Amino acid sequence: MEEFFSFQALFFSLLFALSLFFFLLSKNLSKESISTGLRAYPLVGNLPDFIKNRHRILEWLTEIVIEHPTNTVTFRRPGKVQGIITANPMNVEHMLKTNFENYPKGRRATVFLHDLLGTGIFNSDGETWKAQRKTASFEFSKRSLRNFVMETVQQEIQNRLLPLLQTATKTNKTIDLQDILERFAFDNICMVAFNQDPKCLFFDSSCNLSSSPFAHAFEQAANLSAERFRYTFLFILKIKKRFNLGSETILNQSISTINDFAMNIIRSRKTSNNKENAQETDLLSRFIISTNNDTTGNNSDEFLRDIIISFILAGRDTTSSTLAWFFWLLSSNPQVERKIIRELQSKRAQFQKNPSEMFDFEELREMQYLHAAITEALRLYPPVAVDSRECKEDDVMPDGTVVKKGWFVTYNAYAMGRLEGIWGRDCGSFVPERWLDEKGMFRAESPYRFPAFHAGPRMCLGKEMAYIQMKSIVACVVERFEIDVLGKDKCPDHFLSLTMRIKGGLPVRVRERKR
Ligand code: HEM
Ligand SMILES: *[C@@H]1O[C@H](CO)[C@@H](O)[C@H](O)[C@H]1NC(C)=O
Ligand SMILES: *[C@@H]1O[C@H](CO)[C@@H](O)[C@H](O)[C@H]1NC(C)=O
Ligand SMILES: *[C@@H]1O[C@H](CO)[C@@H](O)[C@H](O)[C@H]1NC(C)=O
Ligand SMILES: *[C@@H]1O[C@H](CO)[C@@H](O)[C@H](O)[C@H]1NC(C)=O
Ligand SMILES: *[C@@H]1O[C@H](CO)[C@@H](O)[C@H](O)[C@H]1NC(C)=O
Ligand SMILES: *[C@@H]1O[C@H](CO)[C@@H](O)[C@H](O)[C@H]1NC(C)=O
Repeated sequence: MEEFFSFQALFFSLLFALSLFFFLLSKNLSKESISTGLRAYPLVGNLPDFIKNRHRILEWLTEIVIEHPTNTVTFRRPGKVQGIITANPMNVEHMLKTNFENYPKGRRATVFLHDLLGTGIFNSDGETWKAQRKTASFEFSKRSLRNFVMETVQQEIQNRLLPLLQTATKTNKTIDLQDILERFAFDNICMVAFNQDPKCLFFDSSCNLSSSPFAHAFEQAANLSAERFRYTFLFILKIKKRFNLGSETILNQSISTINDFAMNIIRSRKTSNNKENAQETDLLSRFIISTNNDTTGNNSDEFLRDIIISFILAGRDTTSSTLAWFFWLLSSNPQVERKIIRELQSKRAQFQKNPSEMFDFEELREMQYLHAAITEALRLYPPVAVDSRECKEDDVMPDGTVVKKGWFVTYNAYAMGRLEGIWGRDCGSFVPERWLDEKGMFRAESPYRFPAFHAGPRMCLGKEMAYIQMKSIVACVVERFEIDVLGKDKCPDHFLSLTMRIKGGLPVRVRERKR
């Protein structure tokens, strides 16, 4: 029995991927599990493997799809939970684009995040999603938003990140770079979303980092919402929620804190926006303006709150996860670091910038090698390692795999980065050059072969913003500092919460780089 619980708990931590699957599993098996125990549940017919591999569930799910000839594995058990996991680009294209309508997120996969996200863009389907997507993509296509992103990123780097690293070189203390990157990302997404600065990366004279009540509540709500996916028996969660017990009390409180904070800002912004000079800067003001004439209720305060909270969740720990893995990869690939530095130096010369000036958008865009190096980190460590959809009607995948109504359909982006068929024999190595053409220009890969940002109509909206942020940070940090990663020779373990992060953080020591 104990085995059963622990393997379930671990399995559940594959939040995006197998939530649906697992939810059904626990629901369908709860009665039997009491009477017959573990052996009653042959998953894929290889439960022993499953148990054996439960500490390395992502690797195991990666091995089985890589080994299978079509790169697709079916979890089949008539009358019980069923679904497929795939690393086949044809199937990915089919589920994310060609037959998009048949593969929504699904009610059962969105239920866990509903209290936090409501029907915000990240957690809805159908018309509710479409209306938000339309408004949001329009705003994300504007140059004015990109400029605002650039401005907020530069300020955070100048005023917080560089001074912090500077101090670290003096104290020679070990710092957790992943934590610093997470704080950076949270400050930045809050600025972009509603022009609020939670000051997570702010530090005092004794180097203590601060925290705002909003940031704390958000982290807690994200943590506890993620933990909800781990419940073996859903009725326990329902009871806890119904009577407001234990972790559900804390979750309820943290969501209230978030909502109050957001609602106050929305209300005061609406009042000030009504006075003539409404400015298009952050996402909130943009959504207020673009939904102003809406008579369908899509401009209610709650609607605005949900969409803003969705953006904060989507933008909060994806870039930090990517960069944490990136800096670890860089530490064991000094030849890549040298090439990045060479590119930075040549751009400084080309644009005649003095050493303290920051690179702007156009200059960053010319950094093809840096772009390739970050993308290469995303290939090996996609923050959303696995992602699931729910099948609406019976269907057949391009590789012949049958899927039935109600099944989960999951793609494994982590496995796809490790497929020889896509990347060749050196697929396990960190080689930015694979992204460059003969002229050294970045060559994009099909998003169905490289789905780190998802693909099709629901592709990530923050991709450009993410690259602006990541390239700015790497350019500034690598030029000025040498980052010593402690224990760099061992690949860190990952930790699956809402994104795939480095377990225990990324301890580093920072030194001034001699220029
Ligand atoms: C390296 C950084 C990032 C990666 C790898 C990434 C990846 C992804 C992925 C895989 C999805 C699909 C998730 C799902 O539907 O289950 C997604 C959706 C989304 N992302 Fe990103 N993301 C990144 C950064 C950002 C940032 C900075 C923002 C904020 C502006 C953002 C905003 C969104 C939004 C709003 C969606 C939902 C789109 C929709 O459902 O229509 N992302 N992202
Ligand atoms: C920083 O600390 C490490 C380990 O404690 C030590 O090996 C190193 O020499 C120190 N560097 C400086 C510049 O003090
Ligand atoms: C900073 O943190 C240290 C150790 O956690 C604590 O002893 C100290 O009082 C803090 N300083 C300030 C100014 O908060
Ligand atoms: C959220 O979870 C992370 C990882 O387990 C932990 O380090 C952090 O302290 C948690 N934060 C809160 C506010 O509970
Ligand atoms: C918190 O709990 C109260 C009382 O049960 C409930 O009315 C409220 O809707 C809950 N709030 C959230 C955000 O779940
Ligand atoms: C809203 O209506 C006003 C007046 O009818 C119009 O000038 C404005 O362009 C409209 N805005 C949008 C976003 O449709
Ligand atoms: C929002 O707008 C869409 C289309 O404009 C509509 O279908 C939907 O019902 C509206 N949502 C609400 C909550 O009124």
